[in-house]
Amino acid sequence: MRKPVIAGNWKMYKTVFDAVRFISELKDLVSNVKDVQIIVAPPFLAIYPVVQEVKDLNILVSAQDVFWEEEGAYTGEISPKMLLDAGCNYVIIGHSERRQYFQETDETVNKKITASLHHGLIPIFCVGESIQQRESGKTLDIIESQIKRGLSGLSASDMKDVIIAYEPIWAIGTGKTATSKQAEEIHAFIRGILKGIFKDIADNTRILYGGSVKPDNIDELMVEPNIDGALVGGASLKAEDFARIIKFKTKLR
Ligand code: PGA
Repeated sequence: MRKPVIAGNWKMYKTVFDAVRFISELKDLVSNVKDVQIIVAPPFLAIYPVVQEVKDLNILVSAQDVFWEEEGAYTGEISPKMLLDAGCNYVIIGHSERRQYFQETDETVNKKITASLHHGLIPIFCVGESIQQRESGKTLDIIESQIKRGLSGLSASDMKDVIIAYEPIWAIGTGKTATSKQAEEIHAFIRGILKGIFKDIADNTRILYGGSVKPDNIDELMVEPNIDGALVGGASLKAEDFARIIKFKTKLR
């Protein structure tokens, strides 16, 4: 069975002080949760302090980006090795904001995924179409090409722990969520592509939905068979909202 994942992408929000305070609020709200993998992705500077706070808790830490080289003269960059050394085990790769504002391409995404896996850092690999692409009927082609290029060269065993996040760009930060049916359609499509490449491994891959996930829409999303969790932006910044999302309700819980 696929253990659900609820991951909070803090983007460029929260100082070290705010980040540490957030964890002290969240930990009590979710201390009983055992059946969901909880991940927070603070800005780089807050990673190490947050790692100290979550020691022995049911909360794991992700970065929001990474560079593919191990070390070297790459001013401003952070390597997979550095993230692991700081106690961070996951990294968001290929978020649409990185693609849009920082010239991230499928090729650089692929290099980052490959380097992360090589070092033992688990990628949360993001894909998603723009509104223009959706309206012109190109969604499936775009998603297929992002998945195939992003994961190019990976073996089934590399793929074992990789998490995928489907985030339609038009739903990010806009308050417009894809309906659970729209999301499920794409999630099932993504799983089909993964099956074609990685065979049985695909049944174990967690595919998260992202884009305006809130306490009031998480329950219906989590009912869908191929939605294995959520990558949450805005609503992950408030401990109460994030905790409610983590405690989503389905018939099984
Ligand atoms: P949002 O962001 O929840 O604020 O729409 C999601 C994301 O960008 O990961």
